[in-house]
Amino acid sequence: MKRKLISGFAGAAVALALAACAGGVAHAANDATPAQQKRQMFLRGAELWPIYCNTCHNARPGGEFSPTEWNMILMHMRTQANLPPQDAKAILEYLKASR
Ligand code: HEC
Repeated sequence: MKRKLISGFAGAAVALALAACAGGVAHAANDATPAQQKRQMFLRGAELWPIYCNTCHNARPGGEFSPTEWNMILMHMRTQANLPPQDAKAILEYLKASR
């Protein structure tokens, strides 16, 4: 359990470093079409989901809940996980789309 927590924190640090680098990418993303932006969110969510959502319990796969249920769950879990808004959006996009 302790080891899992530590690896979770290391993962969060990596995610923060990635988020810092992604600043330039996010700027370029303004030129992307809505479909491309959605795809970028999905991929970002796919990276962040195992990092954030595996810390306190097993990460639950997208297929386990409906999109409406995920909206409610993420409202609760984004405070539990102390998620930055953009990361919460990306994880939500990933969970809803990976059903
Ligand atoms: C800080 C710890 C913590 C983190 C991080 C966390 N959760 Fe949770 N999660 C909980 C706790 C505690 C519960 C059960 C009690 C409650 O609902 O508050 C729970 C419950 C859940 C449930 C309900 C499970 C069920 O069987 O009904 C889902 C789904 C869930 N979390 C998804 C997520 C997702 C998605 C993330 C990533 C964004 C996440 N959690 C991150 C602590 C956490």
